[in-house]
Amino acid sequence: MSSASAKTYLVTGASRGIGLELVKQLSVLPNTMVYAAMRKPFAISSPNNNIISIQLDQSSTSSVVAAAAQVPELDTLILNAAIGENEHLLDMTPERFAEYLDVNVVGPNRVVSALVPALLARKTRKIVYLSSSAGTISGQIGETWGLQGPYAVSKAAGNMMVVQWHNELSKREDGPSTVVTVHPGWVDTDMGRPFGEGSMNVVDAVEALVRLVQGLRTEDSARFLDWRGRGMAW
Ligand SMILES: NC(=O)c1ccc[n+]([C@@H]2O[C@H](COP(=O)([O-])OP(=O)(O)OC[C@H]3O[C@@H](n4cnc5c(N)ncnc54)[C@H](OP(=O)(O)O)[C@@H]3O)[C@@H](O)[C@H]2O)c1
Repeated sequence: MSSASAKTYLVTGASRGIGLELVKQLSVLPNTMVYAAMRKPFAISSPNNNIISIQLDQSSTSSVVAAAAQVPELDTLILNAAIGENEHLLDMTPERFAEYLDVNVVGPNRVVSALVPALLARKTRKIVYLSSSAGTISGQIGETWGLQGPYAVSKAAGNMMVVQWHNELSKREDGPSTVVTVHPGWVDTDMGRPFGEGSMNVVDAVEALVRLVQGLRTEDSARFLDWRGRGMAW
């Protein structure tokens, strides 16, 4: 497959869960090349032989810069990697809280900053940030279910970061970008599983995400969408 003509995707957090399934489903789309970015890279097979695994730890600037150096051109960046456990602000250490902010907020900004040149080298320029309904501030008032505390803070900050990326990229004269924040639904992964029965299986959830990503248009930029493409409350 020639990378010059293929639609090129990069997915962070591709080692498991939603990220790994995104890589698999994107790789079987026609004329596609997928960078699977992981902390500890391993090969992922694809019938099209079009998946490149690269090392990327978004808590490390040098790791992110080294990963970006391997990606000359990029159509769509999917910021999927995050940490999330059942923790609460008032009984956690400041160091652990700082780790959430570093991995889930500063981390995606490291990745976007490093990959802007590759995105600008193509016209597609889609950036998709995997957020959560936990990032909806009004929805968190009195909430007792799901990940809350530092995770919710980080996802609300991530939503704001998407709006700021949209603003900063739309000031440039390189042409439009499409930057969205997406709640993938409650999905049966290591992160979603501890909350009991009733989650979506990862294959179905990612099929919906892939449809959403493919259908994004410039007018969608700065929107907070769910996996079905419905608007979410900020
Ligand atoms: N599952 C749900 O119900 C749900 C609901 C709402 C939103 N989300 C969001 O959807 C996204 C994917 O969630 P998931 O359920 O697939 O989570 P997951 O199964 O816990 O997987 C998290 C991924 O992030 C990676 N990661 C963690 N820290 C990283 C770092 N410093 N640098 C690079 N990669 C790192 C992990 O890599 P390692 O294998 O190296 O740890 C793993 O690949 C997340 O942004 C999550 O917040 C999930």
